[in-house]
Amino acid sequence: MRKILAILLVLVMAFSLAACGASGSDVTTYKVGVAIYQYNDNFMTLYREEIEAYFKTLETDTVKYDITMVDGGNDMNTQSGQIDNFITQKMDVIILNLVQTSSADVLIDKIVAADIPLVLINREPLAYDADGNTLDEAYEGILNNAKVCYVGADARQSGTYQGEIVAALENKGDMNGDGVVKYIMVQGDPENIDAQYRTEFSVKALDDAGINSECLLTQVGNWDQGKGQEITASALTQFGADLDLVFCNNDAMALGAAAAIEQAGRVVGEDILLLGVDALDEAVKRVGEGTMTGTVLNDHIGQSHKAVDVAVQLLKGEAIENYYWVDYVKVDKAYVEANG
Ligand code: GAL
Repeated sequence: MRKILAILLVLVMAFSLAACGASGSDVTTYKVGVAIYQYNDNFMTLYREEIEAYFKTLETDTVKYDITMVDGGNDMNTQSGQIDNFITQKMDVIILNLVQTSSADVLIDKIVAADIPLVLINREPLAYDADGNTLDEAYEGILNNAKVCYVGADARQSGTYQGEIVAALENKGDMNGDGVVKYIMVQGDPENIDAQYRTEFSVKALDDAGINSECLLTQVGNWDQGKGQEITASALTQFGADLDLVFCNNDAMALGAAAAIEQAGRVVGEDILLLGVDALDEAVKRVGEGTMTGTVLNDHIGQSHKAVDVAVQLLKGEAIENYYWVDYVKVDKAYVEANG
């Protein structure tokens, strides 16, 4: 009898110890893998920092998020290896900013096959796969998968806003009064739908406003400030006073262009115009001062919060939509004056 009692006692103690462990493990820790196309990108730096900060605000005594964030270094092979690691590490959810939208299929397939929920951000996998099929054709809508979605902004809107800012000016962008708005287009990564749409829709907005325009040069600056500066500097030398307007697909390149414009002795608002996208702090400051004509707010706060909220929904097993859109906002001088 004593023996039985002793055994029972040991069992009770073991049970209560286990219960103790369980209460310690009442905390659920979710493993979140975040793959960013490239850390060295002004806008994506703000975006990724906000992903981490916002996850932190959602933590409670019982729910924690263990975030592993990796830099794809703008290299598809690197990113593919990082996704393999995420799969091996059995991430509970993956947030993915693709290096190459045309290879989206390869990465999405792997993640779906591993049954890991996926939130794609910033680079919409809209382009074509290696065989030239649109992704919808190739997958019959992989984004219709219940655990895959895209969170982003419709880049057409940002291009349209750039053009509308020009069209709203008294001289409608014709700085030298020769009857034609002559512009250069400093493009982001041309494979990226943001670059394609901003290029197309900024000019379409000029057309729609009945403005006669002419493209002097389109050149790829890959979202990079230094390249924006180089391209604009050589265009200023080549085209001189003919050049009315510099469209940049993002602010990083526009900040580079602003430096080139100053070095060439040209003055934004007086003899040349300069437009960007993103509303980086420095660009907004310039718009307020008049050293940039305008930019468009690419809402990294709204997008990162939405991406994280949807990731959390997926972790809870809740149903999600396949697309989430966050609006751009037009930022011209009047907007900066009104919003500080
Ligand atoms: C765009 C943004 C660019 C660059 C790019 C990266 O939305 O405007 O500055 O960050 O994303 O894909």
